[in-house]
Amino acid sequence: MVNRGRARVRRTQVGIIGAGPAGLFLAHLLHRQGIESVIVENRNRAEIEGTIRAGVLEQWTVDLMNEMGLGARMMREAHFHSGITLRFNGKSHHIDMEGLTGGKRVTVYAQHEVIRDLVAARLEDGGEIVFNVGETSLHDLDTDRPKIRYRRDRDGEVEEIHCDFIAGCDGFHGPSRPAIPEAARTEYQKVYPFGWLGILTEAPPSYPELIYANHERGFALLSTRSPEIQRLYIQCDPKDDIANWSDDRIWSELHARLATKDGWSLTEGPIFQKGIIAMRSFVCDPMQHGRLFIAGDAAHIVPPTGAKGLNLAVADVVVLSRGLVDYYRSGRMERLEQYSATALRRIWKAERFSWYMTTMLHRNEAETPFEQRIHLADLDYVVHSRAAATALAENYVGLPID
Ligand code: FAD
Ligand code: DHB
Repeated sequence: MVNRGRARVRRTQVGIIGAGPAGLFLAHLLHRQGIESVIVENRNRAEIEGTIRAGVLEQWTVDLMNEMGLGARMMREAHFHSGITLRFNGKSHHIDMEGLTGGKRVTVYAQHEVIRDLVAARLEDGGEIVFNVGETSLHDLDTDRPKIRYRRDRDGEVEEIHCDFIAGCDGFHGPSRPAIPEAARTEYQKVYPFGWLGILTEAPPSYPELIYANHERGFALLSTRSPEIQRLYIQCDPKDDIANWSDDRIWSELHARLATKDGWSLTEGPIFQKGIIAMRSFVCDPMQHGRLFIAGDAAHIVPPTGAKGLNLAVADVVVLSRGLVDYYRSGRMERLEQYSATALRRIWKAERFSWYMTTMLHRNEAETPFEQRIHLADLDYVVHSRAAATALAENYVGLPID
């Protein structure tokens, strides 16, 4: 470390902003190829390991964790389901993902568990994650020596990381995407008029697989975390205050929306975590500017109905790592220059699928009764046509990266 002006300066090959799924997977993928990186993260370790978010891993994400030697706890503790249930008009319909996709399963393993496994392994490998930084900023992106500047411990000493490339993996609100000049990027966006209220409850599982329910009172989703803890969601007004939702009100909506005509019932338990998230679809094109490459939520957002957010972030950095490996092996920039176009082809398909699942399953009062009936016809088609069910399954378990 040297002093440059008032900043302490250090060097690495790839400077990574953000220790979410994108940043952590990237650091591991690079390490396996002998490429150095440093991650800077503005929250502390307990915060990133405790934030409740996504739950479903695509099959190739599971395979990648295992190939990287990071899958041992996941293989012990995750829930592996052969499919999902679509519920509408009070009836359940099993979509046999495993049978329809040649053996790919649905893996339920919470995002913060993935984060815990990746952080622990990264630190064990001698990797560096600078937690709790403040005022992160990006500089000299048009040169071959881009820089990340930040303050240690939020308001401490200023440090700079000088690197060959910056990976902006800092989520939707991070500084990386805005570092691409506005004139150099196009943003595509759709904001939905509904959000999800998510809960964690201490109760045994009510059903052996995930249930996605279309109901006239709004969408509901039943998921799981462990034999003792369940995760459930209901569609709500994104601007609603969680204080308006008593536990009794939440359970009463869940019972109504998940009800069947065959006597199935939902098991209640104490609710120990609840919150509301808004929903949007968003894509930034391109995902590169000079020596900055953005990945994951920094570049795109999907509504959570397709369970794609985390997986998409990992897919981006797989593509990015291949470009970086090519550069460090041969000095060739071609594959890196293709990063944005390659990643966006897959991203747009995940955007399409997430939008499709969201519009098909949610109740949108702005839609006409005609449109609402079309969604029911779509569901009826999916559960009765092998071709339609196969298309849904193929997207849900994850499209190939290439
Ligand atoms: P993130 O996980 O957002 O990681 C970015 C990291 O960068 C964070 O740790 C952040 O602290 C850090 N950072 C931000 N700014 C700075 C800065 N200035 N300096 C340094 N570091 C910075 N997806 C689903 O599929 N299903 C779900 O149920 C679901 N629920 C969600 C609930 C919430 C509340 C949110 C926000 C997202 C949810 N998602 C869900 C989406 C999924 O969690 C994300 O797609 C996934 O986390 C993307 O990973 P990422 O690494 O790109 O970004
Ligand atoms: C979970 C989240 C999702 O967005 C989804 O589609 C399925 C499950 C979950 O948190 O368990």
